[in-house]
Amino acid sequence: MCGIFAYLGEKTNAGELILQGLTSLEYRGYDSWGVAIKKENSKLHVEKHPGKIGEATFPPFTASSGIGHTRWATHGGVTAANAHPHVSCNDEVVLVHNGIVENFEELKQNLQKAGHHFKSETDSEVIAHLLEEEMKNETDLKEVVLRVFRMLTGMSAIIVFFPGTNQFFAIKNGSPLVYSGTQSEQILASDAVALIPYTNNVFFLPDYELLEMNPHGARLYDETGTEKSLKTVTLEIDKSQVEKGAFAHFMIKEIHEQAAIVKQLTKKTDQIQNLATAIQKSNRFYFVGCGSAYYAALCGEYLFSKIAKIHANSSFGSEFSYHLDFIDNTSTVMAVSQSGETIDIISGLQKAREKGAHIMALVNVLGSTLYRTADSSFLLGAGPEKAVCSTKAFVAQITAIFLLAHTMAHTVDKGTKDLFNAAREITSILEREKSIQELAEKIVKSKNIFVLGRGISYPGALESALKIKEVCYIHAEGFAGGELKHGVIALIEKGTPVIIYNPEDETYEDSLSSAYEVKARGAYVIGISSKPNPVFDAYIEVKNCGEATIIPNVVIAQLLGYYLALAKNLDPDKPRNLAKSVTVK
Ligand code: M6R
Repeated sequence: MCGIFAYLGEKTNAGELILQGLTSLEYRGYDSWGVAIKKENSKLHVEKHPGKIGEATFPPFTASSGIGHTRWATHGGVTAANAHPHVSCNDEVVLVHNGIVENFEELKQNLQKAGHHFKSETDSEVIAHLLEEEMKNETDLKEVVLRVFRMLTGMSAIIVFFPGTNQFFAIKNGSPLVYSGTQSEQILASDAVALIPYTNNVFFLPDYELLEMNPHGARLYDETGTEKSLKTVTLEIDKSQVEKGAFAHFMIKEIHEQAAIVKQLTKKTDQIQNLATAIQKSNRFYFVGCGSAYYAALCGEYLFSKIAKIHANSSFGSEFSYHLDFIDNTSTVMAVSQSGETIDIISGLQKAREKGAHIMALVNVLGSTLYRTADSSFLLGAGPEKAVCSTKAFVAQITAIFLLAHTMAHTVDKGTKDLFNAAREITSILEREKSIQELAEKIVKSKNIFVLGRGISYPGALESALKIKEVCYIHAEGFAGGELKHGVIALIEKGTPVIIYNPEDETYEDSLSSAYEVKARGAYVIGISSKPNPVFDAYIEVKNCGEATIIPNVVIAQLLGYYLALAKNLDPDKPRNLAKSVTVK
């Protein structure tokens, strides 16, 4: 969701650098933006705008420090006034905030009584005024920030910029804040991706610790204000991974990376064995995820049952709190998440932890909240996923869960062989990309698209429909093939595109029957199978790779979604209203 980028260094074009930093965070999703810089020998300059950064340039002021923010509106509409940074009445405090101040109304009333004038409708602005108020009683700025942060309820990450002294303070109890410092410049950001153009050595700020960044360097304090040492980690990400390169969009670049990711994951069997050992010690096992990660979790239910003969339940992150009755200290809960920051998962997991469950995290972002707080974590290693819609992280999640199931079944060699076949099929589909583009152009005027699958192809159908609807805004639904006659079939009209997953497994004949049934009602049937059939109006071949066939099958829907978006002249990387990492409930 919101993005933060703060700069302090030798370069004198801070405004431009902050704008570049914010642009690298655009993928998180936002609806307005703002930058505040301290002009050399002069006052603060603040720019705030609704909408996207686009081609915006920053006035060529000489400035070596400042802070910027991209906002995804929660409290207060999308206006320039509600965009961050927020500035105190006396212009001495500049604030950016990610998260929600749950007690803002009460705090605001008290501040208004004390004479503070509010310029926005946001919850965040109270923090700037609280800081100004507290500075009347305390001169030590670190004390001021620590005290004010204690007054806030809810989960927040803030960076405070005091332009008068050129000091920045960062503190959080939720969304990440990351610091990097070289001899010539220091940066604070909400996402390590923004730091990669500068350095790979970064520091992830732990909850409730305070980081001070000033022209002499950085200092870290615990929550009592006692100084402690700051140890950086080295990120294994290179610049090419955060750039589009020769591709038109991040989405298509990330789709193309998937065959390599699948093969790469087969080398992580030792780490997967550790997860398997912990799961096998527990009595109950739960997967928890949201959106695409939930569909990967649902695939996990089928894979655990079929391959490992282990019972698993899967739940949406937002529903998991209502399933806690059976969780105890013999349970294992695995969070499946690209970002590792999804609040619906984090809050459900906190309750499971209180009941003694072992918490596992399958995440793609090093240093993320789930990665740091889980009892055992597995890093997917898919590299930064910058398109808002998940493609390669979803494929990495299924691949890891597939390998985990085979590890528990002691059939890793068979699993690895299936995955190499799946990777080969992804490559083969990408060689036929043009035909999927033509199919997209043929069905782009459709009002509805349906996807049917049985067995593990059912969660595959759900994920496929999500991929289509979120990037091209055509209504798409995934259904279990067997549900057709229980109501779904009423939706089929002449020409409605229906994608049928028809892999060569125990669902083969029944899925074919579904194809005939929708065809009889006029559907345009798109068959995805290893065998052609006269019932298919369009046929996309995917050779059988056992249970791993789901992986190339979903890649077809990713490509279809991508080309449908292009056919509608939409930007597939930035679907409307969506945020990459959903850090508010
Ligand atoms: O970062 P996470 O994997 O926890 O995110 C979960 C969902 O928000 C995410 O998968 C979302 O559904 C995407 N838009 C799917 O493309």
